[in-house]
Amino acid sequence: MKKLITNGTIVTAVDTYQADIVIENEKIIAIGSNLHIEVDEVIDAKGTYLFPGGIDPHTHLDMPFGGTVTKDDFETGTIAAAFGGTTTVIDFCLTNKGEPLKKAIKTWHDKSEDKAVIDYSFHLMIGEINEEVLEELTSVINDEGITSFKVFMAYKDVFQADDGTLYRTLEAAKELGALVMVHAENGDVIDYLTKKALAEGKTEPIYHALTRPPEIEGEATGRAAKLTELTNSQLYVVHVSCQDAVEKIAEARSKGIDVWGETCPQYLVLDKTYLEKPNFEGAKYVWSPPLREKHHQDVLWNALKSGELQTLGSDQCSFDFNGQKSLGKNDFTKIPNGGPMIEDRMSILFSEGVKKDRITLNQFVDITSTRAAKLFGLFPQKGTIAVGSDADIVIFDPNVERTISAETHHMAVDYNAFEGMKVTGEPVSVLSKGEFVVRDKFFVGKAGKGKFIKRAKYGQYSIRDQEIKVPL
Ligand code: URP
Ligand code: ZN
Ligand code: ZN
Repeated sequence: MKKLITNGTIVTAVDTYQADIVIENEKIIAIGSNLHIEVDEVIDAKGTYLFPGGIDPHTHLDMPFGGTVTKDDFETGTIAAAFGGTTTVIDFCLTNKGEPLKKAIKTWHDKSEDKAVIDYSFHLMIGEINEEVLEELTSVINDEGITSFKVFMAYKDVFQADDGTLYRTLEAAKELGALVMVHAENGDVIDYLTKKALAEGKTEPIYHALTRPPEIEGEATGRAAKLTELTNSQLYVVHVSCQDAVEKIAEARSKGIDVWGETCPQYLVLDKTYLEKPNFEGAKYVWSPPLREKHHQDVLWNALKSGELQTLGSDQCSFDFNGQKSLGKNDFTKIPNGGPMIEDRMSILFSEGVKKDRITLNQFVDITSTRAAKLFGLFPQKGTIAVGSDADIVIFDPNVERTISAETHHMAVDYNAFEGMKVTGEPVSVLSKGEFVVRDKFFVGKAGKGKFIKRAKYGQYSIRDQEIKVPL
């Protein structure tokens, strides 16, 4: 089965040009004009951009957290992702202390394999390091194809690992060729501040932000960067929300330390005042790190522009307002942390970033797709439009205007954090490995069509049996 996409403008992280794309089965087999290849179907993409499918490097689908389970699972979550132009998600596989890593990985495969409509992979949480864990890591990388580990520096008594664990994870990652990801907030200080606030009768959602100030994120980011320097390893800081953390990342990078940073759409366009909304509505905006004062937004945009931050994750972690967020009605520490962001990740960056001249069109592709593909061992199978790459393609109308709303979104939750926001630009159709998942804004995909992707080691192309360095 061959398809030709014609009349569109191809945009990659480095080029913008008009050409036709020929797809055969799952792959792009030709790019050019006057190709003279017989095809079964011609798709007219006049007036649109053709982007490589987005890669969302940070999702929590079907994840138990905060006394409940995230509302979007691998089916609803990946459908919503596809509507937003994302064709690959990398989800966080949680582990339990004392249990084999393989058991946790199997649990995540069971959650996803018959449900995902687009391709996916996993990062693996490391909560403890001991001989058994260290022994398993080689096989996690070589056999499971999971080449990134996540260490939480916050969520005391839940996910938080100590500095020794982070240090040893960095050491192991260096040796084995993995990328270590951190949730960088000082969990011990947060624990103290939240208990103190509650003892003073401060229970409303805004105290979530007030007990997790930006300095605490900056401190943990700097500490993680220092441990990365000590181990000569590599680090990726997830959901960077503030100037304090950006400065620590920039400082480390200027010293040649291998530190990368991701921000999320919510930090670029929403601010701390959302947590003060009346009638407990502030709970809709409770996630960690919290929303910051508005001036941090300019710092984040500038960091994306200058390359101090390189990627945009959604940190999709959705909970209904009614029935889930409401668990914390009388105590902000019981509000499940997280928000529904998977669907609007790319639209917000395009509308607020490209359309407002904060970043270029090619940076948009790099930030939403290519850089994540390179950092997480998916490139060039994914993350670009090139002959031989998977035909994960977004046909994107850059001029259509729409208003974001829970009434029209495809996530399974009862609210949208960007409700009422006007955006310009939207995916019209989305192909995953050569097949439409979304066609003319209708879902035409199928649960189970998305497959688990084994990833290459850190810094290598996604040719798993050869050691070829990828320029990051
Ligand atoms: O509040 C958030 N971000 N929830 C998801 C878990 C995490 O910390 O990434
Ligand atoms: Zn986190
Ligand atoms: Zn997260």
